[in-house]
Amino acid sequence: MTELQTHGSADLVLDGVGHTYQSVSAPPVEALAPVNLTIAAGQFVVIVGHSGCGKSTLLEIIAGLRPPSRGRVLLGGAEVVGPGRRRGMVFQQSTSLLPWRTVAGNVALGLELQHLPRAERAARIERELTRVGLTEFAQSKVYELSGGMQQRTQIARALAAEPDLLLLDEPFSALDTFTRELMQEELRTIWKSEAKTVIFVTHSVEEATLLGTRVILLSPRPGRVIYDHEIDFSRRDLPLSELRADPDVVAFVAELRNRIGGEKL
Ligand SMILES: Nc1ncnc2c1ncn2[C@@H]1O[C@H](COP(=O)(O)OP(=O)(O)O)[C@@H](O)[C@H]1O
Ligand SMILES: [Mg+2]
Repeated sequence: MTELQTHGSADLVLDGVGHTYQSVSAPPVEALAPVNLTIAAGQFVVIVGHSGCGKSTLLEIIAGLRPPSRGRVLLGGAEVVGPGRRRGMVFQQSTSLLPWRTVAGNVALGLELQHLPRAERAARIERELTRVGLTEFAQSKVYELSGGMQQRTQIARALAAEPDLLLLDEPFSALDTFTRELMQEELRTIWKSEAKTVIFVTHSVEEATLLGTRVILLSPRPGRVIYDHEIDFSRRDLPLSELRADPDVVAFVAELRNRIGGEKL
């Protein structure tokens, strides 16, 4: 069965996925040690680890944008061999946006290969720009935007394509605290209501704790899984502003920080 023939959410399996960057002018860099993981459909998995431990490499491999040096990625039993429209990616940097296109034009990018009717396309662009608070900027060129607005454009582009698997690489890092908290709440709502699988990379231990149903900690390079924990707070459904102060949450944040070694990620 190919990826396109399967419908709905599907389990993701990383089978010995590792990566070494090769270069003609420098020694090879082992970024990722073989990683074995099974991520059930519908999970909200958060990946944390020190800068340079291979988090972005891992997401790019899952997205099908970078072939792994070792191992395989399987989605619903089918091997991932390239990008697919069931997987949406928000990159750590906004360089994947086309600077000469408008904000709406960039959001449309993810839809152009789907051959949707024009009205459906317009409705999705409108919906996602509203969601990320950029309707007023629909016709602005991307290079006219702040880093945080570019990041929100990327999020809108990924969501417009309605992927089953959403891959987010430090998506909120460039946002101010207020916008970041709104976007965290919005992402949680989308995940709850649309049964998506989310894999979310973050530097923030608190963000990981608030959003994730499972937290995975990678070791320093070459990244390997050193901690893999399901989180289930009894009061998980509280608004995030209240959940933040929940004693169980505060305790888990402290524990995770401790586990990471208290160092800055
Ligand atoms: N294109 C590349 N060529 C060589 N080394 C790379 C390349 N991209 C990343 N690396 C190296 O691989 C390691 C992991 O990078 P990355 O996946 O970006 O880590 P993270 O996202 O956790 O910060 C780092 O040491 C980085 O310097
Ligand atoms: Mg990274």
